[in-house]
Amino acid sequence: MVSVKKEFVQNMFSVEGKVALVTGATGALGKVLAKAYGYAGAKVMMTGRNAGKLQELQDEFAAEGIDSAYVTGDPAKVEDVQAIVAATVEKYGEINILAVCHGYNKPQNILDQSVEDWQYIMDADCKSVYIVLKYVAHQMVEQGKGGKIVVVTSQRSKRGMAGYTGYCTSKGGADLMVASMACDLSAKYGINVNSILPTVFRSELTEWMFDETSEVYKNFMKREPIGRLAEPEDFVGYALFLSSDASNFITGSACDCSGGYLVC
Ligand SMILES: NC(=O)c1ccc[n+]([C@@H]2O[C@H](COP(=O)([O-])OP(=O)(O)OC[C@H]3O[C@@H](n4cnc5c(N)ncnc54)[C@H](OP(=O)(O)O)[C@@H]3O)[C@@H](O)[C@H]2O)c1
Repeated sequence: MVSVKKEFVQNMFSVEGKVALVTGATGALGKVLAKAYGYAGAKVMMTGRNAGKLQELQDEFAAEGIDSAYVTGDPAKVEDVQAIVAATVEKYGEINILAVCHGYNKPQNILDQSVEDWQYIMDADCKSVYIVLKYVAHQMVEQGKGGKIVVVTSQRSKRGMAGYTGYCTSKGGADLMVASMACDLSAKYGINVNSILPTVFRSELTEWMFDETSEVYKNFMKREPIGRLAEPEDFVGYALFLSSDASNFITGSACDCSGGYLVC
């Protein structure tokens, strides 16, 4: 008898009934992933620092029957993150999925950049990931049911770039943090920790790169075998996969979703 179970295969991508906490939920990718978790039947707790934007999202989701709530906070501050975890547990009872979607960059040549500016990027993109993962992991361990953690880093975690000594370093650090946390958490507590590494996708900050006649776009196309830059929706499949039973054997991975950028 072939061992694979029909029920497992038919339900392995499901996140129905799970509680998903999404950081950076007001961002281009965060809002898409938050809504996607909602469409997939999860209860969604959104967080960010802008209450007005979070309220707008909650209203939009409610109109479509998505069960969501929000709590404001800065992911780089321990007391804020503790409050975010507490508010999620108070509202939904537990946290099963964490999607880390916040991020920041201010490109500057190292010769012009102040140490303070560099540190701000490191705090926003690396220290904050540590703090969020640490306190959510504590909660998941306490629940005793495992969990799924997905951190959005960047293909820039694997490649240097002019003006990116803060961004590349912090994203590379976050990937290695994910790998190390998988060693801490997976075998003993059943928590899968992975990162996804997108290429450039459409957001307020990157919209200008999508002009197909521009040199920037043409340069990207020399290194994008998939033939285009990304939309936030392109990462929904990977995020849901890494949040579901379909990815139970995957942990500590920096998952390439760069449209092939990283392989050519
Ligand atoms: N867009 C791209 O082309 C691209 C490519 C590869 C990787 N990424 C990464 O993918 C993730 C999502 O990117 P995105 O384009 O969706 O971002 P975005 O639209 O610029 O949104 C960024 C989000 O992070 C929060 N945020 C901004 N500055 C922050 C700070 N200093 N500290 C903490 N939170 C901050 C914002 O929320 P509040 O201001 O409400 O707190 C917002 O929700 C980021 O980690 C980014 O680095 C983006």
